[in-house]
Amino acid sequence: MSSSSPEERTLVLIKPDAVRRGLVGEIISRFERKGLRIDAMETRTMDGEFADQHYAEHVDKPFYPPLKAFMTGGPLIALVLSGDQVIEVVRGMLGSTDGRKAAAGTIRGDLSLSNRENLVHASDSVDSAKREIALWFPALG
Ligand code: TYD
Ligand code: MG
Repeated sequence: MSSSSPEERTLVLIKPDAVRRGLVGEIISRFERKGLRIDAMETRTMDGEFADQHYAEHVDKPFYPPLKAFMTGGPLIALVLSGDQVIEVVRGMLGSTDGRKAAAGTIRGDLSLSNRENLVHASDSVDSAKREIALWFPALG
């Protein structure tokens, strides 16, 4: 990889349920032990307008109103992680969306029993990572 092509980056949110449950350290520790780099990390609380921007692809879905209430209901930790194929790697570490169905060994599979309060968000493609990093951390975008 040349110096003009930096390692891939992804946007991760450690969601309000993880903060409430005291799982922030556990989750960050998994990313660190994997060898990923933390390029940015900040505590934030989303307002409704920001949530609509972050979840632009979901605003018209039936599950969005309760998701929005949950995601704006307390502080979360926003991170930018980097590393080799970090977008795919982190999605694999999260496990599938529904914590009841996510594989054991994944963050959601080990620690969540919910299809909504599933502890962590991560960008799902190069395009969404670019968009989400620009939204959350414009200085890095
Ligand atoms: P989605 O982008 O499909 O999942 P992921 O976070 O794995 O990329 O959905 C965004 C969030 O919306 C998801 O993390 C939890 C919530 N959600 C629900 O509350 N109900 C649902 O039926 C789905 C599909 C998602
Ligand atoms: Mg998604």
